[in-house]
Amino acid sequence: MPAASIRQPIYLIGYRGTGKSTVALRLAANLGWEWCDADAELEAHFGVTIRHIFESASEADFRAKEAFILEKLSHRERCVIATGGGVVLRPANRAILKQGFVAWLTAPAEIIWQRLQCDATTTERRPELVGGGLGEITELLAVREPLYRECATCKIDTTQREPVEVAETIMAHFCDGRT
Ligand code: S3P
Repeated sequence: MPAASIRQPIYLIGYRGTGKSTVALRLAANLGWEWCDADAELEAHFGVTIRHIFESASEADFRAKEAFILEKLSHRERCVIATGGGVVLRPANRAILKQGFVAWLTAPAEIIWQRLQCDATTTERRPELVGGGLGEITELLAVREPLYRECATCKIDTTQREPVEVAETIMAHFCDGRT
């Protein structure tokens, strides 16, 4: 891990439904580190659900809160941080991410769509962004993939892998980079 010291966070980035929070929990357990979910931290800090922010304010307001929380979390040592899928949209956020080790979790749009429909988190934390459905995923992935790529230290396809395997793969990349 040339650019990041051992104490800096490991960030998990990627679209909604790629398993960031589940993998963060497993990876942190493997490393003996803490873990956190940036969306949950945001909701706890501001005392409001993400859905409510989108309904009562705007996506721009959510993005400002998201940037504030990322900056705050970036000071945590030995912590695996599951980020929200849109965190890479702001250049300042990308600059923060690049200071740490960044694992980009991927899956095809159709798989993401299937997973999101079965995930209860979607109701409170994942309001529609540009019309919903598979169309939204395809459209936003086209915009975001270059941004995820720009930040990523490693990229892991989660389609055929259980969270435990994804965590082990990240761990291997992380340990390789440190030597
Ligand atoms: C968002 C993803 C969500 C959450 C918010 C916005 C996005 O996080 O931050 O609904 O823009 O893709 P997850 O990726 O954890 O679902």
